[in-house]
Amino acid sequence: MTDELSECIQKIDLKDSKSDDESTSSSSSSSGGELANEFEIEDVEALLKEGKVKNIVMVVGAGISTSAGIPDFRTPGTGLYSNLERYNLPYPEAVFDIKYFKKRPQAFYTLSKELLPGLYAPTITHHFIAQLGKLGILKRIYSQNIDGLERLAGLEEEKLVEAHGSFASSRCTRCKKVYPNSEVHPMLRAGTVMECTSCEDRNDRAYVKPDIVFFGEGLPDRFHDLLNDDLEECDLMIVMGTSLYVYPVGGIPDGVGNDCPRILINRELVGSFKEDRRRTADAFYCGNADDGALRLAKALGVEEEVKESYKNLKASIDKKREEINNN
Ligand code: OAD
Repeated sequence: MTDELSECIQKIDLKDSKSDDESTSSSSSSSGGELANEFEIEDVEALLKEGKVKNIVMVVGAGISTSAGIPDFRTPGTGLYSNLERYNLPYPEAVFDIKYFKKRPQAFYTLSKELLPGLYAPTITHHFIAQLGKLGILKRIYSQNIDGLERLAGLEEEKLVEAHGSFASSRCTRCKKVYPNSEVHPMLRAGTVMECTSCEDRNDRAYVKPDIVFFGEGLPDRFHDLLNDDLEECDLMIVMGTSLYVYPVGGIPDGVGNDCPRILINRELVGSFKEDRRRTADAFYCGNADDGALRLAKALGVEEEVKESYKNLKASIDKKREEINNN
């Protein structure tokens, strides 16, 4: 593990985040055409079929949740960061910047109304991940997402590292007093900023924030405790729906040896998949996460289970959402 991986969350190379039109299309071509080696998704399917994979490590991001209706961050036009004009932010990432939040928490509270878990159903990809857990071949998944959809799809907590935190707990950013969800979530849902009552007699106000990792904050201990051993044991790295733009998570795929098979399932080529010519076993499936997930599920003989659990859970969550909307 490099030193970078133990640092707090940070942005890298802001100039290099955009893709061309072709690479952001939703075609399902498996070639991608830009990798130097001959390794393809078919080779990954063969490894899975032959039972040669026992310790998958996954790195996932917002792209695995877009088919649930949650926007990603950086896709031009539809990504969250393209649509924050109404917040009057100095720059889009400020909405998740700890220094900015301490002075102006309203933007995050307003946005939270849309991000708070409960309204969205896990995607095919989330159910595929849960199946990997059930098959006993998932070592760990490092998720950058705060939507809680891995858990909702039934993935065991032990397999999951929520590297950028979650809405599951909240505390004051200054005195660290923990506030229960029963108090915080209604405020987030209403978009009303919650002040810390323990800090209230101070001159400057302090605010309550869910334990989401903001820019300028450290990642959870669990991330640092597990990563090195997971990378050592990893025999297949699956990267899905992420720009690999934010570190330290963006650097995780580089922590495995040059000959460890890696597959990127994404709408565009990103990170070291694009750049590292020394790697001999990199595959790129250019397309939608759910389509790639179904191909791998099929290779493992669990395609029907994935489709069935997706359909059932989605139906019940959609029904609940309809009831809420009607009330
Ligand atoms: P990004 O928005 O940076 O990247 C999403 C990636 O998924 C892009 O490469 C898209 O092309 C791709 N994509 C979108 N929809 C897809 C689909 N249906 N199938 C396949 N690929 C798809 O999101 P993240 O990489 O998750 O941090 O962003 C990392 C971090 O940046 C987030 O955790 C967040 C943000 O600032 C914090 O909030 C702290």
